[in-house]
Amino acid sequence: MEREFEGRRALVTGAGSGIGAAVARRLAVGGASVVLADVRPEGIEALAAELGGDAQPLLLDVRDEEAVAPAAAGLDVLANVAGIGSTQSAPDTPLEVWEDVFAVNARGTFLTCKHAIPDMAARGGGAIVNVASVAALVGLRNRAAYCASKGAVVALTRALAVDHVGEGIRVNAVCPGTVDSPWVRRLVEEVGESLDALRARQPLGRLGTPEEIAEAVVYLASDRAGFVTGSVLTIDGGLTAA
Ligand SMILES: NC(=O)c1ccc[n+]([C@@H]2O[C@H](COP(=O)([O-])OP(=O)(O)OC[C@H]3O[C@@H](n4cnc5c(N)ncnc54)[C@H](O)[C@@H]3O)[C@@H](O)[C@H]2O)c1
Repeated sequence: MEREFEGRRALVTGAGSGIGAAVARRLAVGGASVVLADVRPEGIEALAAELGGDAQPLLLDVRDEEAVAPAAAGLDVLANVAGIGSTQSAPDTPLEVWEDVFAVNARGTFLTCKHAIPDMAARGGGAIVNVASVAALVGLRNRAAYCASKGAVVALTRALAVDHVGEGIRVNAVCPGTVDSPWVRRLVEEVGESLDALRARQPLGRLGTPEEIAEAVVYLASDRAGFVTGSVLTIDGGLTAA
């Protein structure tokens, strides 16, 4: 398992914070050359300095096809972690919010995959891991746009897995439950809930950690998951089993 990504080039979107930063760190420790992509510079610059070696920060908006195309070229591993949320029921969701959420979560994932796959196929294969959410599997209250956009990520994952299985490209998704990331801390503040109340609602009595999600993403990206494609791995501390 040590240095299992040696000689491989990886792109992680949303690498500046939370789960994306944990995924990038694990891939780099595993020997990958990691491009740390995010729409905000702070996190990726700090992480690149921390990781050293050939980890590279890249200011990238996953909604922007012209910028995504060159960034997604020449990859062995693509981890789509960038995402944004929504906090309304459908009648309360302004159309711009629906479109923004889909632009980052669904279109952004589509664009990186679209531009990564041809080179992966030419190089004999590759692995794509998309971070969806339990919001794709169950209805979360007041998150209509977010749930729908993550459902799209899961459906896209399966479609890509089927289309590109013959090219050696594996495509999988993970569905995290509630993970202690800067995002969840912002959300808790926004909706006026305490972290303790959130913890109490989890079957395991605690939130997940970004590292626990990264563990699964890195497994799916590795040769250890050679027989795994089109799979959707739920990592939610029992939330959707309840
Ligand atoms: N934290 C959770 O509980 C949880 C649960 C399920 C799924 N997820 C998913 O995990 C992913 C990461 O979540 P997190 O909790 O680490 O959130 P986070 O907000 O801490 O990190 C998300 C990162 O994505 C970046 N980003 C946003 N829009 C972007 C764009 N257009 N282009 C490039 N980068 C962009 C942000 O700048 C940020 O650094 C998201 O896709 C989220 O939906 C999170």
